[in-house]
Amino acid sequence: MRVLGIETSCDETGIAIYDSGTGLLAHALYSQVRLHEQYGGVVPELASRDHVLRTLPLVDAVLAQAGLAKQAINAVAYTAGPGLAGALLVGVAIGRGLAYGWNVPAVAVHHMEAHLLAPLLEPDPPEFPFLALLVSGGHTLLVDVLRPGAYSILGTSIDDAAGEAFDKTAKLLGLGYPGGPALSALAQRGHPGRFRFPRPMTDRPGLDFSFSGLKTFALNTVTVEAGDEQTRADIARAFIDAVVDTLVIKCRRAIQQTGIRQLVVAGGVSANQQLRDALTRLAREEGGRVYFPRPEFCTDNGAMIAYAGYLRILAGEQEPLSFRVRPRWPMDEITPCA
Ligand code: KG4
Ligand code: ZN
Repeated sequence: MRVLGIETSCDETGIAIYDSGTGLLAHALYSQVRLHEQYGGVVPELASRDHVLRTLPLVDAVLAQAGLAKQAINAVAYTAGPGLAGALLVGVAIGRGLAYGWNVPAVAVHHMEAHLLAPLLEPDPPEFPFLALLVSGGHTLLVDVLRPGAYSILGTSIDDAAGEAFDKTAKLLGLGYPGGPALSALAQRGHPGRFRFPRPMTDRPGLDFSFSGLKTFALNTVTVEAGDEQTRADIARAFIDAVVDTLVIKCRRAIQQTGIRQLVVAGGVSANQQLRDALTRLAREEGGRVYFPRPEFCTDNGAMIAYAGYLRILAGEQEPLSFRVRPRWPMDEITPCA
């Protein structure tokens, strides 16, 4: 079975083809970074319009890359939420339309479930059950994963998501959008220990997160220190040390609480090398293993949508001809794969 995956929930158009026998056949991504950078963040209306322009040419491109005709596609999967309503609508309308035109089933995919499943595209994937730490621009979640679709949420951010904290802190240090990679690069030149940021919510029990205080802490530090380049790098370093430490503390707690020692880490922030190194050490200390997607599949992409869609098609799911998007779609409303 070959599934075409379509991702348009935010500022990336991602398209891919997954084959149940041979794995990922082709994938392509168009990033809208250039389009939004002058505004310092994603402009939803511009995002939607650009997805309209990019989606079908990218579908043609992945078909050509895979050497397939459209008749070779057996199902279409698209991100139906969570995300920007207009951006989602473009992918959902095109995906549903293609499936109708090609007379194949369509399936709606939850964006965070797709992130969670992305490490299963790699060689030597984790086996169920496992714990998942999802760290993206809009969500921070610790999830107990029994099998595809059977999730229990152990912890979530009560305010800013981890990626959002990266983006906001980057902005106030004068770095552009998207902030995560730029802040990480700046922090590499920072001296550890010059500033110490708090590790929010680690001094009380529980697995929830709170990252909004860190950007305020960064703002206060910038204001007091009036930064030269080295000071900005030292602040970036202190910020990332605090985020990474906090995530490690919560993951260790989740491992000890559940006894599950396999940890999957996914979402844009999982591209951060410092986080990858720290969680790899944690897993070793706890006698377990950690699994990440390859860096390009940490951030938004079509491959994870094609794969998550494949699992749901396999379970017999399909969408009716009518469709809807769910800009807010709590992960605990996902139904288990039959
Ligand atoms: O998963 P993703 O691509 O989109 C959402 O579903 O939100 O995550 C995007 C987030 C952004 O906040 C971005 O700044 C962050 O991931 N990010 C990073 C890195 N690459 C992307 N944060 C830290 N280090 C990185 N290398
Ligand atoms: Zn994402």
